[in-house]
Amino acid sequence: MIRQEQMEVVQQRSIATNIFELTLTGSLVLDMKQPGQFVHLRVSDQMEPLLRRPISISTINKETLEFTMIYRADGRGTALLSEKKQGDQVDVLGPLGNGFPIDKIEAGQKALLVGGGIGVPPLYELSKKLVEKGVQPIHVLGFQSESVVFYEKQFIELGDTHIVTADGSYGSAGFVTNVLETLQDDFAVYYSCGPTQMLAALEKMYPEKEGYLSFEQRMGCGIGACFACVCDTTEKIEADYVKVCSDGPVFPSGVVQV
Ligand SMILES: Cc1cc2nc3c(=O)[nH]c(=O)nc-3n(C[C@H](O)[C@H](O)[C@H](O)COP(=O)(O)OP(=O)(O)OC[C@H]3O[C@@H](n4cnc5c(N)ncnc54)[C@H](O)[C@@H]3O)c2cc1C
Ligand code: FES
Repeated sequence: MIRQEQMEVVQQRSIATNIFELTLTGSLVLDMKQPGQFVHLRVSDQMEPLLRRPISISTINKETLEFTMIYRADGRGTALLSEKKQGDQVDVLGPLGNGFPIDKIEAGQKALLVGGGIGVPPLYELSKKLVEKGVQPIHVLGFQSESVVFYEKQFIELGDTHIVTADGSYGSAGFVTNVLETLQDDFAVYYSCGPTQMLAALEKMYPEKEGYLSFEQRMGCGIGACFACVCDTTEKIEADYVKVCSDGPVFPSGVVQV
């Protein structure tokens, strides 16, 4: 069920340059079903900015009724969000969208998780859920430079982890595709979130594999009513377009035109 709730800030901290980790608590957490879903946040109590901001769910803890997001504060809305402190309220609409299906893979199999920059956060809850199921995750995480790398330790605790930076300041140098070329492709399913060019490169690299890709699109309502977030589909799909907020943000490979 989609709900709107005033949730309370449990903790906000900076975890890399301009990257924040924000934990909120409230009963809306009980409705979170799948890794890869997102929430739509009002960043200010004032009239402006009016539009909510979509942010992925990065960790879910139903026992404590807490969830965590990781976001980059570079625009006006996210900068305002980064000012929230412990005890403050945040107006949350969610959980929204269809996330990563974990029923597509079985215990004992390997899953490839590929993240780019601020697309890495939703892969953390996904990886935790896969590990709980007995799946072996392989993480390939790409960042611009060392100063914006986050959660390396957390991913290593879950499985094999490769970090790559575009400027070579940490891990291996280049793009996630450079690392993927050196890996065996003995995984059953791949999951990815990041820039569209990265998702396109993965589809090209693994045409025979089952893959699930999470897309980002500018959003208005976040619930399928305003059509701000439509994307063209490929000729394999009957519908001409899909809405990222309500049909996605995660789609099987080959659905969205990249
Ligand atoms: C499903 C989904 C999940 C996301 N998850 C994360 C996340 O986990 N962490 C994170 O840092 N960012 C995430 N983003 C991107 C994030 O929503 C934008 O960076 C943020 O909205 C920018 O807002 P701003 O006010 O700081 O920037 P501004 O440039 O001031 O934003 C102006 C408007 O543009 C929209 N907008 C700007 N950039 C984007 C973008 N890349 N995608 C969608 N809308 C945008 C804003 O919602 C707003 O309406 C996600 C986007 C989507 C669609
Ligand atoms: S944001 Fe309104 S339909 Fe997707």
